[in-house]
Amino acid sequence: MTSILNIKDVKKSYKIDKQNSLTVLKGINLEIKKGEVIAIVGQSGAGKSTLLHILGTLDRPDNGNIIYGDQDITKYNEKDLASFRNKKIGFIFQFHHLLPEFTALENILIPAMIDGEDKKERAMELLEIVGVKNREEHKPSEISGGEAQRVAIARALINSPEIILADEPTGNLDTANANSVIELIFDLRNKFNQTFVIVTHNEEFAGKCDRIVKMKDGLIIS
Ligand SMILES: Nc1ncnc2c1ncn2[C@@H]1O[C@H](COP(=O)(O)OP(=O)(O)OP(=O)(O)O)[C@@H](O)[C@H]1O
Ligand SMILES: [Mg+2]
Repeated sequence: MTSILNIKDVKKSYKIDKQNSLTVLKGINLEIKKGEVIAIVGQSGAGKSTLLHILGTLDRPDNGNIIYGDQDITKYNEKDLASFRNKKIGFIFQFHHLLPEFTALENILIPAMIDGEDKKERAMELLEIVGVKNREEHKPSEISGGEAQRVAIARALINSPEIILADEPTGNLDTANANSVIELIFDLRNKFNQTFVIVTHNEEFAGKCDRIVKMKDGLIIS
């Protein structure tokens, strides 16, 4: 299988005040293959979200390289990064972050509109794939939490990203809704060979993934 993402010696510190800084990532190395579903686990404060933000180009590492395919994005300027992010990376968060004023369909279309593309048909197709058909005109307050999270997954898929990064995607859902989101993620991988990197505290979910990466104090320990 081809490598989709190669993370090499990534380090990150945050300045706390003039004298002190906190090292959150201490040298992360990880290779991810196309179609893999990887769980990132570890105690609170281990650096999971920080790593995910850096992989998602939302933050820059102090050291090391993030290589997607053959592109080392650590060398990109802000403009190129923004365009790369919008085209190649899908995000799913713990809270769905759908825009309340817009319908489910419009929310899914927002990442496509940034590129000025009309993807209404694709958006309708995705609504069906994620199992929220017939809710396209509903606003986020008019659908259930599980449906909203599935709409957020459809939004993450609209630009056919190479990789989807998810930070505790089931963290805010009850067991039934969490299970339906988990099932959907594996469905998308099986049907479309979609790659997922998922930070989760849900052990059952992690256990189903192809690989579990365990972090502790800014390092991968297994
Ligand atoms: N912008 C920041 N400035 C300073 N410290 C930060 C910043 N972001 C995160 N940290 C610190 O870095 C450490 C790692 O944070 P991170 O959010 O990556 O943890 P996590 O593994 O995702 O934890 P959780 O499971 O609770 O979400 C924490 O100690 C946190 O307080
Ligand atoms: Mg976190």
